[in-house]
Amino acid sequence: MMQISVRPVRPDELRDFIVTWTDPNHVDDVKRYVDQMMKKGSIRREWCFVAWQENRLVGRVAYWSLPKIGKPEALVLLDLPWEHEQYLSIGAHLLQETLTLMRETGVDQIGYVVDTPPMPPQWQRFPEQRMRLLEHLGFVVERMTHRFEWRAKGSPLPVSEKGLIFRTLPEVGEAAFIEAVMRVSEQTLDRRIRQEREQEGALKQAQLMFKDLQFFTYDPSWWQLAFSSNGDLIGLVMPAVNPTYATIGYIGVVPEQRGRGYIDALLNRGTAILAQAGVDVIRADTDVENLPMANAFKRAGYVPFAKRYEYIIDLRA
Ligand SMILES: CC(C)(COP(=O)(O)OP(=O)(O)OC[C@H]1O[C@@H](n2cnc3c(N)ncnc32)[C@H](O)[C@@H]1OP(=O)(O)O)[C@@H](O)C(=O)NCCC(=O)NCCS
Repeated sequence: MMQISVRPVRPDELRDFIVTWTDPNHVDDVKRYVDQMMKKGSIRREWCFVAWQENRLVGRVAYWSLPKIGKPEALVLLDLPWEHEQYLSIGAHLLQETLTLMRETGVDQIGYVVDTPPMPPQWQRFPEQRMRLLEHLGFVVERMTHRFEWRAKGSPLPVSEKGLIFRTLPEVGEAAFIEAVMRVSEQTLDRRIRQEREQEGALKQAQLMFKDLQFFTYDPSWWQLAFSSNGDLIGLVMPAVNPTYATIGYIGVVPEQRGRGYIDALLNRGTAILAQAGVDVIRADTDVENLPMANAFKRAGYVPFAKRYEYIIDLRA
């Protein structure tokens, strides 16, 4: 096979980086996404790579980070000549070389999400080919989720607080909040949280998850614990904004209070907090096995719109 060379994209190639493989109908979406991510610092030009064969552009990929983290965490904008069997060798070359560079800068793991059906902003066509390449390189599926979307329709949300008393993060303090995260994660149906609890221990997992969520954009008063009128902890809600959309960062009910519909009051509260902050679209994911959560999203007016495969590769292995 002819030699493939991989290097960061040059400024004069950014247009080709965006339009090659992008359906002409979706070029504006992808361009807007790249501009926005670059403005926010989630994507940097030196993290955008191109693969060349002879004088043909044959592949592209970018590395993405939450702006507050500043270190690559995930692949985005991966595209290759998917319709030709060659995509596998070109893709392996492009990813192995750039993942090695990432490992050398101290990054331990990199994720990649495949959303089906293809949708803005990335329009990932050929999901089977993507998965085949990822698995060939040693990526594993960490979690499969259903994605839900809520859109403001101009009417106020129904209020159903079930007599709960809400207290904000600044009112209760971090230690109490982290303890609540630990309690609501008990016997969760979310595969990733369950595995992390087994590996790290319940308290450490809660501390790590809390820290990860702090990399999102939020006002500390948005994060709230819910108590019954006699002071028992019922659950929590942590709405937040990430670089592409607003989301419910975490939500849960303590095990002894499950099955009483409290999740509806918590989800309404989180949705209302974001709506009051001016958000008109919220996107949230839940593990395909977490049916109580999926049902709660549907009751609160969230609409399922995609299935997401969350892949991860451990670069230390
Ligand atoms: C998902 C969750 C928020 C649902 O809260 P809830 O207030 O119990 O929801 P509902 O009252 O609607 O419960 C619906 C049913 O699911 C059952 N159920 C809820 N959580 C369950 C769990 N983790 N395991 C097994 N069954 C569960 C309830 O017992 C109830 O069953 P019933 O109708 O037979 O009584 C709660 O399970 C939870 O906090 N889980 C852990 C954290 C989590 O997964 N958060 C979502 C991450 S995206």
